[in-house]
Amino acid sequence: MKAILLAGGQGTRLRPLTLHTPKPIVPIFDRPFLQYQIDLVRQIPAIDEVILSLNYQPGRIEEVFGDGSSLGVKIRYVVEPEPLGTGGAIKYAARGVTDSVVVFNGDVLTRIDLAAVIALHQTRRARATIVLTPVDNPTAYGLVETHADGRVKRFLEKPKPDEITTNHINAGMYVLEPETFDRIPDGVPWSIERKYFPSLVERDETFVAYVYEGYWIDIGTPEKYTQVHRDIMDGRFATAPFDALDVNVAPSSRIVTAPDADVAPGATIEGPCFIGAGAVIAAGAHVGPYAVIGRGAQIGEGAAVADAILWPGCRLDGGASVRHAILGHRCHLGNSVSVTGVSVTDAAVLGDDTTLTDYTQV
Ligand code: GDD
Ligand code: MG
Repeated sequence: MKAILLAGGQGTRLRPLTLHTPKPIVPIFDRPFLQYQIDLVRQIPAIDEVILSLNYQPGRIEEVFGDGSSLGVKIRYVVEPEPLGTGGAIKYAARGVTDSVVVFNGDVLTRIDLAAVIALHQTRRARATIVLTPVDNPTAYGLVETHADGRVKRFLEKPKPDEITTNHINAGMYVLEPETFDRIPDGVPWSIERKYFPSLVERDETFVAYVYEGYWIDIGTPEKYTQVHRDIMDGRFATAPFDALDVNVAPSSRIVTAPDADVAPGATIEGPCFIGAGAVIAAGAHVGPYAVIGRGAQIGEGAAVADAILWPGCRLDGGASVRHAILGHRCHLGNSVSVTGVSVTDAAVLGDDTTLTDYTQV
């Protein structure tokens, strides 16, 4: 069985972070996002190959995962000549595949029991099986109504507020039978959500839902990207690199520091927070709570970082402060620079290599 991870979107809602780092490999702490998904699918022994469906900056993604051997899976890359949309991309990636395929949107983080989803697909002899999850506001997702027996009654992508009839949405995980791809035309953009799923319903094909109530998030916006880090730091989602900590430990002690980070004795580190490999925290600096310090970042004397995510290589000079913000790779903030976003849900976002000279206020 193959798993197709849809990882070709441009990540527009995460710009400028995604201008040079495609969404599938944006860092979550110190690992590229897709590594969490690959860890999930590789637990299914029947899945013998992971196909990454790409078109936006495919080389950067391939550089990170290679042939998959370091992660213990076989990875194949399928690059569309041009973006084919979710439906076109699945059909293109599944050329030659006749067995059921597991498909994931390449930006959802979850701990779904994939084996149970596949088992449901098989026992119901379904043509397609979709995972649903409840959310407060379905407007940013695909709304899915179901019959009492679990069959899908209606699929409505990005419903308007007055079209909301359920809080169940498409969680972006499917098991599909490749013979159903016959309806997807070749070489033109085609949406699995707007066309393929509605067509299964219209034709009354066996299309069943698996409802999942556990942790689930789509990391595709700065707000959700921040949220996923907070959820992991808080232990709401127990996963690397915080899964070694006891969930009952006090929040201020939820600190993960890479072994070779250099934290000066006079620095104040307040959990929850993460300090990556090779980071240097000077005396008098204040890190946390909810700070993520990327690999090799340098936090100068008296500088402060809270409620913020710094990608690898950022440098904060003396007295600089960052709050409610996400900083791309290698940003340099001069002395006493202050970058302050509006709130936890409305962060300031600086693109890679942004330089702010001394005393600049953003
Ligand atoms: N290869 C390829 N080609 N991948 C694509 C393309 C394409 O043309 N377009 C989008 N993708 C990938 C994206 O990289 C992402 O991993 C996935 O397909 C879904 O695209 P998003 O742009 O993230 O869609 P969304 O978040 O607005 O909505 C989708 O996800 C929701 C759950 O998070 C839909 O599937 C909704 O129905 C669903 O509820
Ligand atoms: Mg998405």
